[in-house]
Amino acid sequence: MELNTFDLYLFGGTGDLSNRKLIPAMFRQETLGNIDDASQIIGIGSRDLSTEEYISMVNESLNKYYIDFEQQKDAWLKFAKRLQYIKLDINSNEDWKNINNVSDSVAVVYYLATPPNLYKKISSALNDNDLIKDNCRIVVEKPIGSDLETAKDINNSLSLGFKENQIYRIDHYLGKEAVQNLLALRFANTIFEKSWSSSAIDHIQITVAEDLGVEDRGGYYDETGALRDMVQNHLLQILCLIAMEPPVSIQSESVRDEKLKVLKSLAPFTSDNIAVNSVRAQYLEGISKGEAACSYLDEEGVNSKNHTETFVALKLEINNWRWSGVPFYLRTGKRMQSKSSEIVVRYKTVPHNIFSKGAHLEPDQLVLRIHPDEGIDLKLNTKRPGVSGYDLENLPLDLNLNEYHEIGHQDCYERLLLDVIKGNPSLFVRRDEIEASWKWIDNIINLWKSEDVPMEEYISGGWGPSNADLLIKRDFRAWKNGPSKK
Ligand code: BG6
Repeated sequence: MELNTFDLYLFGGTGDLSNRKLIPAMFRQETLGNIDDASQIIGIGSRDLSTEEYISMVNESLNKYYIDFEQQKDAWLKFAKRLQYIKLDINSNEDWKNINNVSDSVAVVYYLATPPNLYKKISSALNDNDLIKDNCRIVVEKPIGSDLETAKDINNSLSLGFKENQIYRIDHYLGKEAVQNLLALRFANTIFEKSWSSSAIDHIQITVAEDLGVEDRGGYYDETGALRDMVQNHLLQILCLIAMEPPVSIQSESVRDEKLKVLKSLAPFTSDNIAVNSVRAQYLEGISKGEAACSYLDEEGVNSKNHTETFVALKLEINNWRWSGVPFYLRTGKRMQSKSSEIVVRYKTVPHNIFSKGAHLEPDQLVLRIHPDEGIDLKLNTKRPGVSGYDLENLPLDLNLNEYHEIGHQDCYERLLLDVIKGNPSLFVRRDEIEASWKWIDNIINLWKSEDVPMEEYISGGWGPSNADLLIKRDFRAWKNGPSKK
């Protein structure tokens, strides 16, 4: 499907995000013949490069990050023609004049693939230099602030020149196929929606586990921690899609309105329950993917005085009619046993077991897998065949989306970038959502400090600290741990 004509301005055009994700995403669209001849990609960076030098840099990086780049000679010739480079020291008023002739007819996208501490500066300078027109959009990545106050500050500076519908705040989890499929599953089928509430559901778990440590991002991570890095955005966004009421339509504002209501209904933690309903922890050394792994405190860029968590588990409640009395257990951590992200919807057991008086009957369980494979797994009780009487077993109805479609090719950044170009903001986060989630997160951070909630420890390569197991075991429930290590 051909895209509308666009000019994509990549601030940070020589950086990692551009090289690994954004340029390959646009190049794939080129190979599919979806970009018209008039569209342009303008790399912006502080280095003094000519456009020719930039083109050869892009060529090198595609060679490295685009799988069959060698076989795409024709597409490359077309792609190279649409590349330009602008040198910009963002502190130099003179340099800002290098950005001129911004179109007022095609879709103009300013993508800030830069460190977040430059967002304010760049968006203000775009405004001061009259570079914002009605056809312009700005894209920013997380983290948008580190608390409510700093998030408001960034949002205020973005809204100096851009209207809210021109601002695209990326949460890359919303670009994941399986996350979007949550909406289809819930609102295109009656079978689930009718039982999607406290009347049938016992509890819901959301786990986003990573096997990697902080890698080369120790400095950033140490100032951030798992609560801000993962829960404030990715996990809360997933929670919203799971818990929200049916939107009026799939249009962006309807979906965002419903997500916001969930965020506003989250029961705030209190000094009475924070120590029982939350766990924070740091990884110790251990074995990760068969190799010795160092502890968090031994990672480069990490300062032991910061007390930064690499694991969080929370038990939370949503104060509304649908979810009253249904706990949500959220968990995320680095250096866990495997990279696996899934949502587990655990149904209530049948009220009366007619098959065997007093015997336990496994409750039904719906698992929505985001990673490693994308799919849906519904466990149901069935009669074991070939035996007389009712010997029941709990078996899965398993739908692996990869078996039906080749969905591996389109990266979530590609999907999101195309949506910006098309002007479709439904998969981006609105200002009030970001601010509501920070408000809820800030309260946890403050309580962790004021109530002195201890920093637990866990061995690298496991499933987190024992207190995270206790958090759920106390309610006579257990985490479902993802695929075990091979
Ligand atoms: C990012 C976090 O937003 O998401 C990283 O900053 C994390 O710390 C990453 O590793 C996980 O994303 P994914 O898509 O690999 O699950």
